[in-house]
Amino acid sequence: MTRLIVVSNRTPGKGPAAGGLAVALRKTLAEREGFWFGWSGKLVEKPQPAAAFEDIDGLSVAQIDLTKDDHHAYYAGFSNSILWPSFHLRLDLATIEAHWYEGYRRVNAQFAQALLPLIKPDDVIWVHDYHLIPLASELRNLGVRNRIGFYLHIPFPTIDTLFAIPHHHDLMRDLSRYDLVGMQAQRDVTAFTEFAEHQSPSSLSGDPLQWVDFSRTEIACFPIGSDPDAFARLAVSPAATKMVKRMERAMDGQKLILGVDRLDYSKGLPQRVEAYEKLLANDSRFRRNVHMLQVAPPSRDSIKEYREISETLDAMCGRVIGRFAEPDWSPLTYVKRAYGQASLAGLYRLAKVGLVTPLRDGMNLVAHEYVGAQDPADPGVLVLSRFAGAAEIFDTAILVNPFDTDETAEALRMALDMPLDERIARWQALMSAARRHNVEDWSKSFIDRLAPANASNSPTTRDILYVA
Ligand code: G6P
Repeated sequence: MTRLIVVSNRTPGKGPAAGGLAVALRKTLAEREGFWFGWSGKLVEKPQPAAAFEDIDGLSVAQIDLTKDDHHAYYAGFSNSILWPSFHLRLDLATIEAHWYEGYRRVNAQFAQALLPLIKPDDVIWVHDYHLIPLASELRNLGVRNRIGFYLHIPFPTIDTLFAIPHHHDLMRDLSRYDLVGMQAQRDVTAFTEFAEHQSPSSLSGDPLQWVDFSRTEIACFPIGSDPDAFARLAVSPAATKMVKRMERAMDGQKLILGVDRLDYSKGLPQRVEAYEKLLANDSRFRRNVHMLQVAPPSRDSIKEYREISETLDAMCGRVIGRFAEPDWSPLTYVKRAYGQASLAGLYRLAKVGLVTPLRDGMNLVAHEYVGAQDPADPGVLVLSRFAGAAEIFDTAILVNPFDTDETAEALRMALDMPLDERIARWQALMSAARRHNVEDWSKSFIDRLAPANASNSPTTRDILYVA
């Protein structure tokens, strides 16, 4: 079996992880030879050119340090103030500073330089996410001919949004230097293809044509998943049960509505709280009988837009509590910290409604984990945004337009009033879908497609011309 090198900005750490990526890949790598490569989390004045290896809970991890300035330009700057908002169709929240691009490329070049001496001829390299789009180009420029795959964990933008991203031409050319580009949802592959078809040499008259040749790159959809049966076991583990008991006491018979998200503007948190406010305003039956818990670990708080969403949410939660709370009842609990997987599994199991309403999301693994954690005899209801990649898989969830808070409020009412037989039927279909799209098959199918023995020589996308 060929060795696998996984590359991502963050390497798996110890303790609770806010994102689903680390949880998803740890297992795959534990079963193969190879290692994980990424940033150490350390900022230093003069980084060593060579990566340092460390054993993290049985996983071989090679890491490099970055300078403070490079990291700022690459992570807070180009990756999270330009690519993240644009790919989530929030150009209004993008900040463009021209020099960040140089830092982004410098860090990708530094990753390539440090990775080069560690690569053996048959290794397969799997690069993750928008921080590292140029990595294949940098490696190819250093002479690396190995199979290199890229997986985009976030949505692919629409054409006009893509055009608003500085250096989008270079980024598209960078993608063409991968052998395989994987995306979360069919929606993303369609957006990519649409972009490719929209661009034709004839659309630019007079200008010299620059084009990107994707004929050697396969673009396909690989929806990521979770391990729903492991989550089901975790949800009845002693640690999860401890959380269930603690919450049951606090709930005192009220039905729990649960949201768990990184505190990010793409998650639709203000809209979600507004929908809950409308539920309580529309139907007094629910006052004192339901409770909403929003778990939102803070994220990327060096970026202004993240501090602002945090303040907006503070104000909205305060407003709803002030409007509906009574001396002995509060409608809402808002917790700004991360919890371990077991505690979360317990919370998911107790929740009668899993409220997953991002404005746009790559996949959303909280939806998968919520499904996995349910009690088969008395499952809760998943209320899911149509704009999460998960909506392509979970069509028996109650699907909502998260921008329409009246619709989400009505979905909450339906979920809370749903009879047991309908909850069971919907959940059984969701659980089968979660099993079909489990994380093990996800990584296996990506690696099978990428590894030389099974690699396809005939890309699914036609030759694509791209005109800058
Ligand atoms: C998303 C991205 C991941 C990222 C995670 C946490 O899931 O797709 O690449 O690691 O968010 O964000 P952070 O900026 O804290 O790494």
